[in-house]
Amino acid sequence: MQIMKHTLRFLLLFASMAAIGALSSHAAINVSGLRCEDAVNPLGIDAAKPRLSWLLTSSERGQAQTAYQILVASDEDKLRSDQADIWDSGKVVSDQSIQVLYKGPTLSSRQRYFWKVRVWDKSGVASTYSESAFWEMTLLSPRDWKANWIGFTGGWLGRALYFRSDLTLAKPVRRARVYVSGIGYYELRLNGIKVGDNVLDPGFTDYTKRVLYATYDVGSELKTGHNVIGVTVGNGWWNRPQLLLQLEVTYTDGSDETFGTLSSFNQNNGTWRVTSGPILNNSVYDGEVYDARLEKPGWDSLVGDPDRDGNHLDRTEGWEVPHTVPGPGGILVSQTIDPIKVVDTIRPVSVKEVKPEVFVYDFGQNMAGWARLSLSGPRGIQVTLRFSEELASDGTVDQKNLRKAAATDVYILKGEGSETWEPRFTYHGFRYVQVEGFPGKPVAENLTALVVRSSVAPSGAIETSNQLVNRIQKMVWWTEASNLTSIPTDCPQRDERMGWMNDLTVRAEEAVYNFNMSRFYPKFLHDVRDEQDEDGAITDTAPYRWGQRPADPVSSSYLLMAWLLYQHYGDTRTMAEEYEGFKAWTDFLYSHTSDNIVDYGYYGDWSPPKAFAIPGSKGSGAVSKDTPLQFMSTGYLYYDARLVSQMARTLGKADDEAAYSEMANKVAASFNQKYWNEAAGGYGSNNESMNSFALFLGVVPEDKVKRVVMSLVNAVHANQDHLTTGNLCTKYVLEMLTVYGYGDLAFKIATQETYPSWGYMLANGATTLWERWEPLTGSGMNSHNHPMMGSVSSWFHKYLGGINPDPQGPGFKRIVIHPYALGDLTWVRAEYNSPYGLIRSSWHRQNGVFTLKVTVPVNTTATVYIPTQNAASVTEGGKPAVAADSVRSLGSREGAAVFEVGSGDYEFVVK
Ligand code: BGC
Repeated sequence: MQIMKHTLRFLLLFASMAAIGALSSHAAINVSGLRCEDAVNPLGIDAAKPRLSWLLTSSERGQAQTAYQILVASDEDKLRSDQADIWDSGKVVSDQSIQVLYKGPTLSSRQRYFWKVRVWDKSGVASTYSESAFWEMTLLSPRDWKANWIGFTGGWLGRALYFRSDLTLAKPVRRARVYVSGIGYYELRLNGIKVGDNVLDPGFTDYTKRVLYATYDVGSELKTGHNVIGVTVGNGWWNRPQLLLQLEVTYTDGSDETFGTLSSFNQNNGTWRVTSGPILNNSVYDGEVYDARLEKPGWDSLVGDPDRDGNHLDRTEGWEVPHTVPGPGGILVSQTIDPIKVVDTIRPVSVKEVKPEVFVYDFGQNMAGWARLSLSGPRGIQVTLRFSEELASDGTVDQKNLRKAAATDVYILKGEGSETWEPRFTYHGFRYVQVEGFPGKPVAENLTALVVRSSVAPSGAIETSNQLVNRIQKMVWWTEASNLTSIPTDCPQRDERMGWMNDLTVRAEEAVYNFNMSRFYPKFLHDVRDEQDEDGAITDTAPYRWGQRPADPVSSSYLLMAWLLYQHYGDTRTMAEEYEGFKAWTDFLYSHTSDNIVDYGYYGDWSPPKAFAIPGSKGSGAVSKDTPLQFMSTGYLYYDARLVSQMARTLGKADDEAAYSEMANKVAASFNQKYWNEAAGGYGSNNESMNSFALFLGVVPEDKVKRVVMSLVNAVHANQDHLTTGNLCTKYVLEMLTVYGYGDLAFKIATQETYPSWGYMLANGATTLWERWEPLTGSGMNSHNHPMMGSVSSWFHKYLGGINPDPQGPGFKRIVIHPYALGDLTWVRAEYNSPYGLIRSSWHRQNGVFTLKVTVPVNTTATVYIPTQNAASVTEGGKPAVAADSVRSLGSREGAAVFEVGSGDYEFVVK
């Protein structure tokens, strides 16, 4: 289903692109899909040189861009008549069509820039210009800010604050923008209507370092005359609600006026007032308590007609005057990450009365979000909603594994007919909701689940002939989706929800295959950097609230995220911006070595099956007994040093490239010296983790590789073809078996249904991944929605679907399509939405015939692997592949016939 929806979306997208193209020209190549900083017509851009990208389509094979021309104008009419009064790039001979740097004059705060682009195709024929698009700059200098933080220091602890400002606009409005932040979370309303659809805004950061603000175009919401701004601010991750808001209005006569929480706020035209209201308590972990009897109708709007003098009834009688309060300390940064939104709604699959007057809703899917309650009943009735992932044996919700998180919402009815409510400043990880105190007998329609996450778009999709694989993929997808709430959380339900760096080391690649993380990870990398110490140490979690400082050395995710941003999106800026931080962390680790072996570690290959963990160790026994911490720590230091060296090469820093390569070599030598076990023919205890990790790192001397692979295979067999690994090495076992010729064994492991395996989780009712391989309940460490065991999904995308970025052409400028037909699979359909457009790899095999259909976006090339020894027998579109248009044979490699193809659709067949 998911893949179909996905495909449909892209078909529609391409159909509309094609339609635009057909109208405008007969050129071989069409330009559409303009993006600035990876967003469509964004407001709030603060990059001094924004990066521009476009999509190219063509009905011809092997099409590519040979040159482009970008026009940027200050208004749309000018652009229409090709007057690039801001910047005309001229014809630039280049095949770059993503992340192209704006190189015009310095951009100004607040200004909107309109742009379009045309390209020259492979034969040098120019396309027509694209449709126009725009981006708008935000407040670029601290001096642009006239607003101050306001709050209320007088009381109402735990409650949300309600701020109101009345303002009069004397003239018609041409343009208006609100720049707003409220921490922990805020909701902005204008004349009684919510502005935008962000929820749980702004994104979570270390507010003492950085605070995100949003930009809204409110030009059409404001009217001449009296207007009302209403903002509710909750506790979120800050607990001292405070608000910052700047409303800038330009009238049709060209004059400007600024409103908001200005320093002169209680004297100027906009008079702010504050009060408490129906939200009596609000907490990320504990939930929200809402007393609808305390609602103040019209608190955020004008109600009724004005009196004879044109004045409205004062709605703020008894309200307080807010205080100017110190800011949290962080710099204000425009929020460019995809905001958190309600992305879906789910109907319950069942409602059961499990005890007298206690009802349990089952939504059939573990998720992150909340429930919307619709009901009617007498005033003062209190309805309690308890959220859980699991049920106790009596059918009631089991909240023990949420530890101290109460995860309970309370709604008190006002008794005025039909009432609908949902919380604003909390979220829960849940599948079940227990309803108590409901007036009467609730039915399915009374409660709807709202799925909430950062609104990153899905990127890859995969479906196979094996239903278990599909169900595992779905389980991982939902787990990742539940754990993207402006930071990559470990879990959405218990009293934690932190961005753990150790888990992310294997999770990041799974995430980029399933979601577009191009704006999410740069933001999170800043979060990590914000916590970095002078000495280079990063922290276990970012923003730092849990775990250790310095972080576990396995936190290579720090560097890896930037590397993935480069490989998947062609983003070099993030790498360049964070580079010094990466070096500092790597140096820090190196300073914690003796004889090049890192001298500390906490979690290592965390949380293996119980029999392979040290009883009583950290995390209710989650430290591996056979895979030493220092082994993992040292391996990742090697990996970091390699990454720094590769980044240095990318960024043109030859000295660093050499220095870190040398560091890596030294660490590898010591690693081999210390952990190579000649008698066993493998590493250390010769288990799955140690052998697969060494192979993954690429440190195994060539003459030993075969033995290590055999030792890995034997270790797997010794455990009846099951995993003995924790969160990290699980990834490497599957990948290394596959690339070293044991893909069927990897497939067998991946599709086991007995303990420990993903199939076992599913067989035990899981709809999202468990934190432990065991089916645990109780108050220990046993989240049931934990992405750290989800690397199997990137294995599906990379090896079963076979879609990979080619390091020779980052951002999918070059693509590797290398599917493996493993186990009982008879077909796989995979797709991935790259910055150049949709890539497809879909294969089936029947009666000894293997067919692979491939779609390669315009302006990219792909290396395609067809599993056969006999390259000459491969056909494409019915003729010998070597004779096909845009297909070139690269000979045989790794048991496959290899071809290079240009853009277009291909069908390869081999008997
Ligand atoms: C987190 C894990 C993390 C671990 C490290 C746990 O509390 O949920 O995701 O790997 O801590 O100690």
